[in-house]
Amino acid sequence: MIVTASINKIRAIIKKNKNKTIGFVPTMGALHQGHLSLVRRARKDCNFLVVSIFVNPIQFGPKEDFKNYPRNLKKDIQLLKKEGVDLVFSPKNEQMYFYDFSVFVDEVELSQTLCGKSRPGHFKGVCTVVSKLFNIVNPDIAYFGQKDYQQVLIIKRMVRDLNLSVKIKVLPTVREKDNLAMSSRNVYLKPQARKDSVCLYEALTFAKKLIKQGQRSPEEILNKMREIITSKESTKIDYMIIADAESLKELKVIKGKALISLAVYIDEVRLIDNIVVNIKSFMKK
Ligand code: PAJ
Repeated sequence: MIVTASINKIRAIIKKNKNKTIGFVPTMGALHQGHLSLVRRARKDCNFLVVSIFVNPIQFGPKEDFKNYPRNLKKDIQLLKKEGVDLVFSPKNEQMYFYDFSVFVDEVELSQTLCGKSRPGHFKGVCTVVSKLFNIVNPDIAYFGQKDYQQVLIIKRMVRDLNLSVKIKVLPTVREKDNLAMSSRNVYLKPQARKDSVCLYEALTFAKKLIKQGQRSPEEILNKMREIITSKESTKIDYMIIADAESLKELKVIKGKALISLAVYIDEVRLIDNIVVNIKSFMKK
């Protein structure tokens, strides 16, 4: 496995392997089983596999956790070696951004809601870095997790609208035994907060159960979800929404494919989770 911070070296290696199917998993490191599920799937699909590790400063707001974001490059490299990754790209900020960089990629529709609303500029940072990484690695297939549902939708839109020649594959959210979605930020959770954090998935599955039973009012469902989450002292809801799973527009009545998505602070740690409910699949049964 080659590990490099050099963009030129990456380009040279990719050029040498241009007859292979290049798989790519972009990450910010502090790798867990969620990341590794993407790596494993990419390893199966592709005969040349690239993983990037880069904590992208421009997708963090000024009051967010860029400085304290967990970093563990040595351990990450060990994990990726075990998975049979071919190439790891781990650039420094200076390699990715000139001191006077001034060109961004911005998605302006799907980014207006959910996390985009609470974190202004976040998806501009994500789209910019992901398009830069795509330009450097030139992958055939790139792998993303459903855990960041809105991110995937925005990246697919970017690929469509900028005619990028990469296929996007989305894989399910990997969870801890008690169903907390795996996240690099989970390491920040103190013991009580960690216990409380299971209420996120509990609220999502309760919502699904209500829909299965015939409830079609997002307002009613969100009220029940709010009860579950606020019953834990450590929680503060950032947002909860039931939206059309493709347009991300808030639903007034539940129909079609609905995304139930939330962001909740547990103490100071902001966690996100979501599920998609397909009403048609309930009606068949
Ligand atoms: P990061 O949070 O490190 O996540 C990298 C990839 O792993 C993303 O596609 C994310 O959706 C996926 N992932 C995270 N937790 C997961 C889980 N529990 N189950 C399945 N997949 C999971 O997302 C980013 O980094 C950045 O925004 C990035 C795309 C790298 C751009 O900087």
